[in-house]
Amino acid sequence: MERAPRELRGPAVGFRLFDMPLATDLQAFFDKHQSRTRDELFDFLRIPSVSARSEHNLDTARAADWLADSLRKVGLKASIHPTKGHPIVLGEWRDAKPGAQTVLVYGHYDVQPAEPLELWDSLPFEPAVRDGKIFARGSVDDKGQLYLHVKALEAHLSSRGSLPVNVIVLAEGEEEVGSENLAEFIEANKDLLRCDAVIISDSAMFAPGLPSILSSLRGLAYFQIDVQGPASDLHSGMYGGGVMNPAMALGRILATMHDAEGRVAIPGFYDAVLDWGEKARQDIKTLPFDNDHFCAETGSPELFGEAGYSTLERLWMRPTCEVNGLLSGYTGEGAKTVLPAKAMAKVSCRLVPNQTPEEIERLMRAHVARVTPKGVTATVTPLHGGRPWRAEIGGPLFDAARRALATAFEREPVITGEGGSIPVVGDFQRILNAPVLLVGFGLPGENAHAPNEWMSEDNYFKGMAAMAALWDELTTA
Ligand code: BES
Ligand code: MN
Ligand code: MN
Repeated sequence: MERAPRELRGPAVGFRLFDMPLATDLQAFFDKHQSRTRDELFDFLRIPSVSARSEHNLDTARAADWLADSLRKVGLKASIHPTKGHPIVLGEWRDAKPGAQTVLVYGHYDVQPAEPLELWDSLPFEPAVRDGKIFARGSVDDKGQLYLHVKALEAHLSSRGSLPVNVIVLAEGEEEVGSENLAEFIEANKDLLRCDAVIISDSAMFAPGLPSILSSLRGLAYFQIDVQGPASDLHSGMYGGGVMNPAMALGRILATMHDAEGRVAIPGFYDAVLDWGEKARQDIKTLPFDNDHFCAETGSPELFGEAGYSTLERLWMRPTCEVNGLLSGYTGEGAKTVLPAKAMAKVSCRLVPNQTPEEIERLMRAHVARVTPKGVTATVTPLHGGRPWRAEIGGPLFDAARRALATAFEREPVITGEGGSIPVVGDFQRILNAPVLLVGFGLPGENAHAPNEWMSEDNYFKGMAAMAALWDELTTA
């Protein structure tokens, strides 16, 4: 294997990290197999592994089988572990030199539902490339980002017959529905899963061409609120004005959840929230971020959020409470004079350290009970939750990641935060007691969970190169 001379690399974390090219044998593998590695991803994307829908259970199982096969083909031992929900796929390669590190790569092979289908410009489960973007449900979240790891492993195993680290691949099929069975699996198999580092690619880079290492994720507390009024729908003329309307009652309940300044008004909501301090706020300010650009990305007429915080601070270090869905009464064509019997809202809170889903559930229940108007009953049902996560970035794993990302992207990575949630990250850290490295290859505007989801083709290949470089870096780290 040929590598760049050490002198070229500069100090451990130098200023010219990008002078360090990818090992020539790995580069040759990627050059030679580019179209095949793309076609294989397309096969993976064609399987509609929608974890939320039971009519897709067979597809979801098929995606697990497909993934296990692909791990076997590149030389890992693969097994499928049934759970109460969708199966867990485990890949293992443990023939590294004595003393080598063991890394665990986590990802998910399930995807969000593709609806509304009419808003897609091409079929969600028939990948199409336009403008350097791979369009398909799951392209970036998370099949593309998971599969690039499989191909990075193949690059090593195929060109050298071995890997510089022992590798465990752990892929679940329930991430998009709350990872209900994963923590239990990790707990029950913690000896098997023992590792020196957990690597996850299930997030986005801060900007095109700018590789990013994540230092925080928000947590989640997700609820359904059901409001019940009369026993059945009523004529709104014959009964309207005489009984409480559940849709109006729900509207009033939801309206109490914020003040006019964008702060969550549920009593006690901020009690456990940590102030990240001035240094974190200064670090965030150094990132290339433009409010107008962000506003255009969202298509909103203007930005709005908690007073006293910048947009990135609002997204990364402040908690939220959002309505995700509303259902009540007549919503079809034309008019129907009806007083609905019930109304329902899906409401979720994004959490930051040290909030917990359990405490937020307690506060939410107490608040809804307090503000529910007379004449209806309201019930709060928790659907799922996950803890927030924040880490100090530093140490040999992160230095290795910085060098590997710089090699592939020819640019020094930035440290960023994230507003989304990957609940299992906290579980990995707690149960396996290993550092977690979050390096994502998505991009702003990727439409994850939305119509026309895409992954940058360039990032798919560069992510592969970066991860292949990372395994080499961990030999020496
Ligand atoms: N990949 C995302 C999480 C994510 C999104 C991380 C954006 C970083 C940037 C993951 O698949 C996801 O969608 N998570 C859910 C939580 C889950 C419990 C349903 C989320 O954040 O809504
Ligand atoms: Mn994901
Ligand atoms: Mn997702």
